[in-house]
Amino acid sequence: MGERINRIRVKALHDRIVSKEEAASWIKDGMTLGLSGFTRAGEVKAVPYALVERARNESFKVNVYTGASLGSDIDKLFTEAGIVNRRLPFQVDRTMRKAINEGEINFVDQHLSHTAELVRADVMPIDYAILEAISITEDGEIILSSSVGNSLLFAEHAENIIIELNTAWPENLEGVHDLYSPGPQGDRTPIPLTKPNDRIGQVGIKVDLNKIKGIVFTDKLDDPSDIVPPDEETQTMANHLLEFLRKEIAAGRLTEKLAPIQAGIGSVANAVLHGMLQSEFEGLDVYSEVLQDAIFDLIDAGKVKSASCCSFAISEEKMKQVYGNFDKYRNKLIMRPQEISNHPEIIRRLGTISINTALEFDIYGNVNSTHVTGTKMMNGIGGSGDFARNARLAIFVTKSTAKNGEISSVVPFVSHVDHTEHDVDVVITEQGYADLRGLAPRERAPLIIENCVHPMYREKMREYYEEALKRGGHTPHVLEKAFSWHDNLIKNGTMRELVHV
Ligand code: COA
Repeated sequence: MGERINRIRVKALHDRIVSKEEAASWIKDGMTLGLSGFTRAGEVKAVPYALVERARNESFKVNVYTGASLGSDIDKLFTEAGIVNRRLPFQVDRTMRKAINEGEINFVDQHLSHTAELVRADVMPIDYAILEAISITEDGEIILSSSVGNSLLFAEHAENIIIELNTAWPENLEGVHDLYSPGPQGDRTPIPLTKPNDRIGQVGIKVDLNKIKGIVFTDKLDDPSDIVPPDEETQTMANHLLEFLRKEIAAGRLTEKLAPIQAGIGSVANAVLHGMLQSEFEGLDVYSEVLQDAIFDLIDAGKVKSASCCSFAISEEKMKQVYGNFDKYRNKLIMRPQEISNHPEIIRRLGTISINTALEFDIYGNVNSTHVTGTKMMNGIGGSGDFARNARLAIFVTKSTAKNGEISSVVPFVSHVDHTEHDVDVVITEQGYADLRGLAPRERAPLIIENCVHPMYREKMREYYEEALKRGGHTPHVLEKAFSWHDNLIKNGTMRELVHV
């Protein structure tokens, strides 16, 4: 035990230390768990494993609510153990994805800022909050680790709390968190955050100590993020973004400080931000949900002066650099609950430039971020909708094709709509960009077709649109052919046959 008990600075909690098996034994069939963890960062790493062990000899199911995706293969192991009834609001695991798409897990794909309201209103009560922490202060404040996600909310609303005190985290992470709860709807004042780096809350979670039922020690850092490094196409997309932003500056709508930037998860968004390293932009503020490697590179290059988020999702190399020298970064970083990082009021107030990734978009600017061929869940909408509807600039990026060109990521009609044409300002592929602001549907379509569609698919798209125009309407379509590209993909594994060569 020795030194690690010093991480529990409030002596009144020293008698709560238990094994992960004992903590797991308190969880009963049908309970709802609120787990820490967001974009595979700051998840609990012991009690879930003990639950999986228990499932070898016992049949039970739980509802699993989190901030966002979990690392440490927890979603995979939970799925294999068959213990998940309901999962929300986001996940990225292949095994769980398959179970969701086979109807074995009830997955609720939620805007990440919405979960808090439903828990607070008691629509989705929580039995146990199980939260990773780096320490508990003399005053009993729980200091979180590499994500905040929904942890404050879960701690406030759960019947009981289990803490996983992870001694692998450097203690000097303390102070980076800024925990603010807006309180119940109907009884709220404006959130007092007017600049991206304003501090408005507490550094730790204050709860009635009687709610803390057990403390389990762990000592393993997060899994590193596995994003793919930038390639030629993502660099070209970054160049299109830079070109667009330069035009905004030339038009007097932005300055070289731009506006607070939000960038979504995934390889493409990371690579596009990476492209900013070679730009003239500086003095940037980031007001985002997750900070990936590219933001830390921009901090190192002196281009980012502050970065607000609700989690760090970084590679192994970046983890060593950031957690090994945290004092170098700490005064530039703030980590908030996801209902604050993603709050519509603040996003609209700050006027963020939001860059998120689409699976596909259509000729009018509707975006599908979640469903492959309209039915199969990929990950979830995450925070992209929180930002898109409220941002100053809602930008969506995607490569113009997927799966070696067999799929066109620009289609006549998206097979599932996450972001309607009303929420989308600019779409970018490696072919170019289309600025849709202020344009009617008949102005949008030609711009998207000529600037964003891959040349392999462009002629066919022109034909589709011309035929649609003959049918007329405000938003012309040939409805019986609107999903023919997807249909062809399902039947023949490619959208290509439709292309005239
Ligand atoms: N149809 C089918 N599959 C497609 C596709 C399309 N139109 N476009 C891309 N894909 C596939 C890719 O081939 C790849 O498949 P693989 O995992 O088998 O290699 C996968 O989707 C991921 O695509 P990739 O190009 O590598 O992009 P990414 O890692 O940036 O992820 C999203 C893209 C859309 C899946 C991801 O950004 C996401 O889940 N977004 C929704 C949540 C979100 O935006 N949150 C933002 C707030 S933080």
